[in-house]
Amino acid sequence: MIARLVLLALIACPATAWAVETDWPMEPMSPNLEDAPSLQRGFKLYANYCLGCHSLRFQRYERTADDLGIPHDVAVDELIFTGQKIGELMTTAMDPESAKAWFGAPPPDLTMVSRVRGPEWIYNYLKTFYLDESRPFGVNNKVFENVGMPHALIDLQGVARDACPPGAEDCHQLAIDSGSGLLTAEQYDQAVQDLVNFLHYVGEPTRQARERLGIYVLGFLAFLGIFTYLLNREYWKDVH
Ligand code: HEC
Repeated sequence: MIARLVLLALIACPATAWAVETDWPMEPMSPNLEDAPSLQRGFKLYANYCLGCHSLRFQRYERTADDLGIPHDVAVDELIFTGQKIGELMTTAMDPESAKAWFGAPPPDLTMVSRVRGPEWIYNYLKTFYLDESRPFGVNNKVFENVGMPHALIDLQGVARDACPPGAEDCHQLAIDSGSGLLTAEQYDQAVQDLVNFLHYVGEPTRQARERLGIYVLGFLAFLGIFTYLLNREYWKDVH
């Protein structure tokens, strides 16, 4: 917990500097931690498409599988590609120095990204990669200009292009080359929703338990309140 807080403080400081305003009209997105199938799909997508570069170094496979209702044997067979044991932290084998040389910036750990950037930002980020031949990986991003990350989900989404006429002001449009992705637009939106849901869970794995506990505590206080009131009435009944 303390390690998480320290990390959050460390990440939160430069975050103000990162929070470059984007004029992209952000699509609203709210995570839903009650949706277990979505969280499970998000975990799978993360393990397949993100974990190779981005560690979740405060998160263990085992805890994640337990929280999301995934049996351990399924987690070992389908979600651990690094040869690690289920009790280990979700680190990546990538060497940070080489990563920095390849991408310009090392892929950051994403344990806290949902708390620093917010789920809506990540959702829009993953939906706004577009073709830009001038960039090293041939793609740019509408909410993170000149990002060093390749479009990890391009196979699923397909090739997106800026669809605004040259010189057009106040135009914000991307169009996908038809048939270039494995998923339809709706399926891709769902996949990104699942991924962001998962990252939101990772940012605070105890959130659900905490909220549930809060409800019990309030229920208990209400219950106690009724008794106190009745007792009070009982005490004062004969005084007058
Ligand atoms: C090939 C390596 C690679 C893969 C795969 C990859 N990323 Fe990245 N990602 C990067 C790099 C490098 C950066 C840093 C970019 C920069 O600072 O310019 C980054 C940055 C990010 C950021 C912004 C972090 C921040 O706050 O600055 C998010 C969010 C992110 N990645 C999410 C994802 C998700 C989700 C996936 C899986 C779908 C993914 N990435 C797959 C390399 C990768």
